Amino acid sequence: MKEPYSPVYMTCIEEAKADLRAKARPALVSLPGSIDEYDTVILAYPNYWGTMPMAVFTFLEAFDFSGKTILPLCTNEGSGMGGSERDIKRTCPGATVKGGLPITGSSAANAKGSVERWLRANGLL
Ligand SMILES: Cc1cc2nc3c(=O)[nH]c(=O)nc-3n(C[C@H](O)[C@H](O)[C@H](O)COP(=O)(O)O)c2cc1C
Repeated sequence: MKEPYSPVYMTCIEEAKADLRAKARPALVSLPGSIDEYDTVILAYPNYWGTMPMAVFTFLEAFDFSGKTILPLCTNEGSGMGGSERDIKRTCPGATVKGGLPITGSSAANAKGSVERWLRANGLL
């Protein structure tokens, strides 16, 4: 994000909540020029307030994902995917959104096996 959230966790929580309530679309530092060359996009993000960070909405709305396949991966501290798969489907009509992979933040470093199984189940390995 051009204006990153605070490194202080409790402040970040409040800034992210305000952006969610305002349906903000925070500006990103950079975006790919095009996603034409991709058929499948692995979209990885943390669970913020039960969905994706608003900056991920900024990214999704910047492109036309119709005809593409999206694989969502969501780190979280208990809420799993939350409503993020539903929100991706709403934001990217015409995209095929596969069942997501929730990963607990504290076990992310040990998640290689589950990520590989998920990729294999989706024909990507
Ligand atoms: C603003 C904010 C909101 C969050 N909301 C949730 C939530 O609703 N549910 C949840 O399980 N975790 C929530 N978390 C925890 C993050 O999902 C967790 O920190 C992240 O997935 C792990 O990545 P990290 O190690 O980079 O923090 C939130 C974290 C932040 C900073």
